[in-house]
Amino acid sequence: MIEQIKSKLKTNLGAYYKQKYGMELAVVVEEPKNASLGDISIPMFTIVKALRKPMPEIVAEATEVIGGFDLPILSIKPVGAFVNLFVDKAKLSLDIIKSCVEAGSDFGRSHVGDGKNVTLDYSSPNIAKSFSIGHLRSTMIGNSVKLIMRKCGYNTFAINYLGDWGTQFGKMIVAYKKWGNREVIMANPIAELTKLYVRFHEEAENNPELEDEAREAFRQMEIGNPEYLDLWKWIREESLKESAQIYDLLEIDFDSYNGEAFFNDKMEPVVEELKEKGLLHENQGAQIVDLGNDMPPALIKRSDGGSLYITRDLAAVLYRKREYKFDKVLYFVGNEQKLHFEQLKRLVSKMGYDFADEIEHVNFGLYLTNGKKASTRKGNVVKLYDVLQTAIHLAYDLIDAKNPNLANKEEVAKYVGIAAIVFGDLKNYRGLDVEFNIEQSVKFEGQTGPYLQYTGVRIASILRGKDFDVNNCDATLFEKPHYFEIVRQVAAFKSTIEKAAEEYAPSVIAKYLLSLAASFNKFYSLEKINVEDEKVRNTNFALAKSVRIVLNEGLRLLGIKYLEEM
Ligand code: ARG
Repeated sequence: MIEQIKSKLKTNLGAYYKQKYGMELAVVVEEPKNASLGDISIPMFTIVKALRKPMPEIVAEATEVIGGFDLPILSIKPVGAFVNLFVDKAKLSLDIIKSCVEAGSDFGRSHVGDGKNVTLDYSSPNIAKSFSIGHLRSTMIGNSVKLIMRKCGYNTFAINYLGDWGTQFGKMIVAYKKWGNREVIMANPIAELTKLYVRFHEEAENNPELEDEAREAFRQMEIGNPEYLDLWKWIREESLKESAQIYDLLEIDFDSYNGEAFFNDKMEPVVEELKEKGLLHENQGAQIVDLGNDMPPALIKRSDGGSLYITRDLAAVLYRKREYKFDKVLYFVGNEQKLHFEQLKRLVSKMGYDFADEIEHVNFGLYLTNGKKASTRKGNVVKLYDVLQTAIHLAYDLIDAKNPNLANKEEVAKYVGIAAIVFGDLKNYRGLDVEFNIEQSVKFEGQTGPYLQYTGVRIASILRGKDFDVNNCDATLFEKPHYFEIVRQVAAFKSTIEKAAEEYAPSVIAKYLLSLAASFNKFYSLEKINVEDEKVRNTNFALAKSVRIVLNEGLRLLGIKYLEEM
């Protein structure tokens, strides 16, 4: 929070010198190691050098000028070549708590992204396959980053880039025509389609011609075979239902579901452009673009004319640049696709476009269960919707034991279960692998989402039905360490959000909320909040209220509900 005063000192003093001497002078503002010297210290060496005046004169002048600024400063002491300042912590704290209580859910709003467009590509499951844990991570991280960036003023456009195109659909069509049954699939789409897919691979081991048939089927799709396209459309709709269950539960939405298939008719012009720019080469019948010695070439067209994942992503990124005029396009995809996105960037810059640096692979690690990656390959499917339901049931049992008379137990359990899963993930820095344990994540204590909700519920019950006047506080209380610690954290909310936006890392907010909750719980163990003395009571309530505001808003940015009761 001293940061704000420091930066104001810098600009105000700089403006003074500019006005008085017509010079841009870099004012240095430090925090002395030895706190007894002051909270802020301004060394005047550079000013002396630039203005060619004696040190005492410069120091005296600065001391006087700073005294005229409207800042929460207690005292200003010239000491040798320094001007040392003691901050008025009580006034500063009161200003912060007041602004929080007055701003409410708008507190922490930042303008770093004003006027900038961000396109976010997240979730993006593969049709006819199970919604994997990787897709869940992408969904949760992408959604949270979207909310965080909106809070920072960015215009966001969220795309669920469905994996609804590619040779696997050729396989699916061949398998369906040979062994499939419509009713059976309708009853249980993903499971039955997965079975067909697995069977295709098993049979293809002995009968490699199946692979050729599948390639031909996909080629037929690409040139518009109506029978195949009808089948594809049906498979797409049926399997989207599973993803939709998860989005409904998590209350996550998208501005567009334009997936890979949407780009089927938008690839040819891009291939033409590559050709015209002399980038496309033939290699064993396939069309490739060389990307330099440090990475493998991009395969743009198979020898049978079929397009590839990267071909579609290239068409998509050019389309997005035109349509959404992004300043950044973010891809929330696992670490294993690192090379793919490096190739995409290289392709874009080889084509002569200047926006390769705006393409960002927001990577994340694997989800481990007992140290191993959960695989969807050979039918070993982790049903994510079931995982979420398990968390919700566990939450229900805990709530039922603690608070059996709670009115809307089912709904609360839903939000607590979701908080367990979402926070259990987002508290980890996204780039790392996550070892996940549902039982631990649902607990009301420890570093969990439910713990934060529970802290919020305590505050909600403290404040319920209470009125207080933030303009009638005893600001000197804020100087006490357990008060001041909370004020310091509340003051850091905005910069925390900005840091999370800059790093596309919800974990920055998750960790911050954990320490805010810990500070509040400590405060609550030391202080009685609803006391006789009106000023003390107002101060306590205002402090509790500001923690509530920040917790509420911080949880919202992660995709978690703040609860009134649980
Ligand atoms: N559907 C892909 C997969 O599951 C992820 C797509 C990510 N987005 C993209 N534009 N490539 O691996």
